[in-house]
Amino acid sequence: MPDVRRVMVVYGTRPEAIKVAPLVIGLTKAALFEPVVVVTGQHREMLDQVHETFGIEPDADLGIMRQGQTLAELTSRAVSGLDGLVAACRPDVVVVQGDTTTTLAGALAAFYHRVPVVHLEAGLRSGDLYSPFPEEANRSLTSRIATLHLAPTSDSADNLLREGVPAELVVVTGNTVVDALLRSTCTGHGYREPRLAGLDDDGRRVIVVTAHRRESWGRRMEGIARALSRLAAAGRRDVRLVFPMHPNPELRRTLLPRLGRHPNITLTEPLHYGDFARLLRRSYLVLTDSGGIQEEAPSLDKPVLVMRDTTERPEAIRTGAARLVGTEEDAIVAGVSGLLHSPEEYRRMARARNPYGDGRATERALAALAHLFGLGPRPVPFGALPEQHPRTEPAVARRTRRAVSR
Ligand code: UD1
Ligand code: UDP
Repeated sequence: MPDVRRVMVVYGTRPEAIKVAPLVIGLTKAALFEPVVVVTGQHREMLDQVHETFGIEPDADLGIMRQGQTLAELTSRAVSGLDGLVAACRPDVVVVQGDTTTTLAGALAAFYHRVPVVHLEAGLRSGDLYSPFPEEANRSLTSRIATLHLAPTSDSADNLLREGVPAELVVVTGNTVVDALLRSTCTGHGYREPRLAGLDDDGRRVIVVTAHRRESWGRRMEGIARALSRLAAAGRRDVRLVFPMHPNPELRRTLLPRLGRHPNITLTEPLHYGDFARLLRRSYLVLTDSGGIQEEAPSLDKPVLVMRDTTERPEAIRTGAARLVGTEEDAIVAGVSGLLHSPEEYRRMARARNPYGDGRATERALAALAHLFGLGPRPVPFGALPEQHPRTEPAVARRTRRAVSR
């Protein structure tokens, strides 16, 4: 096949899988590309859940998850496994997503074989190398290696330009999580998780909770657990907290003894994406330290309180859809209580604009890939009016192509 380009997509965790799923599906349908889907298996059950939801069957699975492995073990397993696959498959580009260990390992493995790296969800920065840990380092290092940077918003594109990435190698696409969310919320059937049976008919206000960040393990996670206990006790008659728990044993050791016995806290295993999207829609507000959920909640008009000290997603804070509450017990309780008791405050947050996407990020990412190979025009960026974005100069297109054939 003459002009078909081999695109290896590498990922390994739940959030990467959700965010690349629309792209993998798009690549499969596009005549210009031959996708090769490679997973590290950094996550196991949570990755398999996403594949089942989107009907994706990877071409290769390294199965690197081990209980309690260190970051160094995880990274070295991922890099050496991917090294062999990149060598054997000889892709034209490798696509990585986000900021996990798999992201960085995929970028490194491609780089060692001089294969250009395309970074999906590029340019997010908190400005603090240790928060989130190790993600801020993972994504910054990936930016140093990448050839094409698919930034979800103009803020993330600006971060890259400030770091000296040439403008012609940055395309603002919107976040593919919005595309994934739109796909999954179109289906109508009930929850697969038995503990959520009847939730849609429960008259209580539902607070969705998730927490998993490494920098919050230990003392901070204890603060989060104490805040949830207090909120559950105070809202016994009219509030129900639903907390799908990350499987990491380190987290469960802190959370289970403190939260297991409240009648209005429902703890569940990780939910299938369809269930989680349904739960978000059903919810009144969201309390989380998750990156992806910070983007999904505003897309569904749900106020989101972020249990972290920093965020690389300032857009929703600026539009008013999200607020940083940190991990201190009193601050979390005050943040949630404010929203439960002030309809005005609630309305302001719920009505704020969703800055993360319009459901067409995949389309722009595919166009940006085609453009990288000199097979199509540069896409109009997310957020720009078409007339504000002049057609790419031929010289710029030439420079972009040179980067691919380096
Ligand atoms: C990882 C990413 C983080 C991302 C998060 C999303 C790194 C270093 N961290 O964190 O950026 O926000 O995923 O969830 O890349 N486990 C299971 N089954 C699973 C998944 C995890 O049992 O399906 C358990 C295992 O014991 C595993 C542990 O959780 O060792 C931690 O998993 P790991 O991928 O190292 O880190 P996360 O905390 O999940
Ligand atoms: N999610 C899910 N089931 C759950 C909890 C979350 O499918 O029980 C989805 C959620 O909709 C979002 C993604 O997982 O798209 C976020 O993953 P996570 O919080 O683990 O990682 P992060 O986004 O913080 O890297």
